[in-house]
Amino acid sequence: DWTTGNVIDEQVAAIRDQVGTKRAICGLSGGVDSAVAAALVQKAIGSQLTCVYVDHGLMRKGETEQVEKDFVAATGVQLKVVDAQERFLAALAGVSDPEEKRKIIGREFIRVFEQAQAEIVAEAPGDQPVEFLVQGTLYPDVVESGGGTGTANIKSHHNVGGLPEDLEFQLIEPLRKLFKDEVRMVGQELGLPDEIVQRQPFPGPGLGIRIVGEVTKDRLDLLREADAIAREELTEAGLDRDIWQCPVVLLADVRSVGVQGDGRTYGHPIVLRPVSSEDAMTADWSRLPYDVLARISTRITNEVADVNRVVLDVTSKPPGTIEWE
Ligand code: XMP
Repeated sequence: DWTTGNVIDEQVAAIRDQVGTKRAICGLSGGVDSAVAAALVQKAIGSQLTCVYVDHGLMRKGETEQVEKDFVAATGVQLKVVDAQERFLAALAGVSDPEEKRKIIGREFIRVFEQAQAEIVAEAPGDQPVEFLVQGTLYPDVVESGGGTGTANIKSHHNVGGLPEDLEFQLIEPLRKLFKDEVRMVGQELGLPDEIVQRQPFPGPGLGIRIVGEVTKDRLDLLREADAIAREELTEAGLDRDIWQCPVVLLADVRSVGVQGDGRTYGHPIVLRPVSSEDAMTADWSRLPYDVLARISTRITNEVADVNRVVLDVTSKPPGTIEWE
């Protein structure tokens, strides 16, 4: 019988069995999957787990703080936060190709993660070795990466930054058989707060794959503002549970003419991509109320410098993926 209680009991037993007295680390992305995976492993092995959060500077407004405060408060987990913003920006300089961006972000992530891991070992050298890596891989990730059915890789997905091929870890993937809604139920049962459990999906490479064009600090700041406004208005309108997620995308390589204040502007478009979905494998564009769209558009064009147009993506998946890159 499938109940969250059974899933938790089974996984906790399996994880204890697998890890024994050794130690594990878990990368937190700020998302639901890694948070629930971490909480589950924490329940199983307590202080034998250390979580690592790599702040790559591609996060949305308030996300790093949410991990630092809310998650630690809810779980009591040991957390190591690494500020790697400069490093990621430098690695991404001059790169526009989506797959290349994903690969760079994945690669840098692993490097920072390995460093953090070495530090954790160095800080407590007498302890048991760190042999396990916790990943919040879900069933759809397994399928879309070709692991489940032999289908071709659609995008180089990575939850915790990609599976490091030469990394000497054994994997713990307690959510591998679950869909998102089931993961949320497990998280709830584990006592994680709604702000974490009900969070909409957000890709590991973050805003880096929501800037069509080169990723720069200024563009990230601009997109962070636009995204925060869209999220605020959707929450205000009570729509968070109706939509699966709403990527906000900056078309950094596109400009169009506008008129703002007293004059002509030549600014960038922001794309809103609200979608409804069951499991992200397919999706439909959300029919959001016009007045909500109007408020988002007005606020973004008024409050975000260099943006003079807001457009709505009305493509289902397929043919469009949810993210633009
Ligand atoms: P696509 O764009 O492939 O996205 O339709 C499907 C779902 O996956 C999320 N996504 C990612 N999640 N790492 C992640 O953890 C990634 O690299 C990644 N790429 C896309 C996307 O937000 C959507 O929910």
